[in-house]
Amino acid sequence: MGKYVIAGNWKMNKTPAEAVELIEAIKPLVADATCDVVVGVPFVDLPAALEAVKGSKIGVAAQNCHWEKSGAYTGEISAEMLKAMEVGYVILGHSERRTYFGDTDVTVQKRMRAALDAGLTVILCVGEYLEQREQGITGEIVAMQTKVALGGVSEEELARVIIAYEPVWAIGTGRTATAEQANEVCAQIRDVIAGLYNDKAAKAVTIQYGGSMNAANAAELLAQSDVDGGLIGGASLKPADFATIVAAAK
Ligand code: PGA
Repeated sequence: MGKYVIAGNWKMNKTPAEAVELIEAIKPLVADATCDVVVGVPFVDLPAALEAVKGSKIGVAAQNCHWEKSGAYTGEISAEMLKAMEVGYVILGHSERRTYFGDTDVTVQKRMRAALDAGLTVILCVGEYLEQREQGITGEIVAMQTKVALGGVSEEELARVIIAYEPVWAIGTGRTATAEQANEVCAQIRDVIAGLYNDKAAKAVTIQYGGSMNAANAAELLAQSDVDGGLIGGASLKPADFATIVAAAK
């Protein structure tokens, strides 16, 4: 299955000075990591974070990007700007973007295009609301989100796409999906990739689970056959907990 990637999603937390402090605390704890480690920081923290990770294997992610290269889009940041800063990753389609800031499958697809054109690696978030799970349409929802976001993405470009399955009801709620639930949906997403591309691409793609993953439950979730990593919110702000999750990703 895909290469293990553990990514922190700091959301709207930490000033630049605090970001440096947190990265300095994480660095020694993940020095022996056998997986890829990424921290997803607020835009204004990017310069400090990029400087702080130097000499370590930690990658830096932005949490969104716009689809145009530049223009009259007050308050937005383009993929080209991230590229110019040598940011390696960008999180796209997070449920908080979709729920609070109007992101749709179509705008996520446009952002995906821009991010891949700029040479970034994308962490694409998909996941169902609780009502959708209760309706029994989780598979359809994540398939739709995945297919639309990957519209126009070549197999070669897919190597720069990580998919994060994040059930919305599990994000920030302390209510983690069971290992079986996480694995079932990650496997469904892998099937979608096999359908869109081929079995080789499906095996190679990294599929993370996200949603209240923490130091206590990470090992069980990461041991699942189709879970290749995690997108970590709350626990990524706690160096020891984040390091425990990284160590569990083998
Ligand atoms: P959480 O957030 O780990 O705090 O649930 C995960 C995410 O939003 O990516």
